[in-house]
Amino acid sequence: MPKLTVEEAGQFEVPPGKRLVLALEDEAKIDQLHACGGFARCTTCRVEFIAGEPERMTEAEKEVLTVRGLIDTPGLRLSCQIVCDHDMTVRAISRLRGSGRADAGARPENQITPPAVWSTK
Ligand code: FES
Repeated sequence: MPKLTVEEAGQFEVPPGKRLVLALEDEAKIDQLHACGGFARCTTCRVEFIAGEPERMTEAEKEVLTVRGLIDTPGLRLSCQIVCDHDMTVRAISRLRGSGRADAGARPENQITPPAVWSTK
């Protein structure tokens, strides 16, 4: 099983292929934001990769990171557009606590939404 390491939270085994945003919530028990419900629209599910940043990227992630001027920020990725298929280490930089939001957002579906069209960064 892929290992997910979250800075200051610990290391967790994650079912292969699970969306990173859901692993942050379910396995790491992080109050990860996902305001748009995992549809690559809000960017609140962002994480910072310390190790294991995936090479591939969905077209939806690339588009929203480009529009928001975030595409060139090293290690910054959208956890709703990533599946846990290898070991990763991330910093959880977008959390409910301190955000002023009422909740983290609707629970994302188990599969990547919109349906993943894979590209690279
Ligand atoms: S972009 Fe909104 S939850 Fe990922």
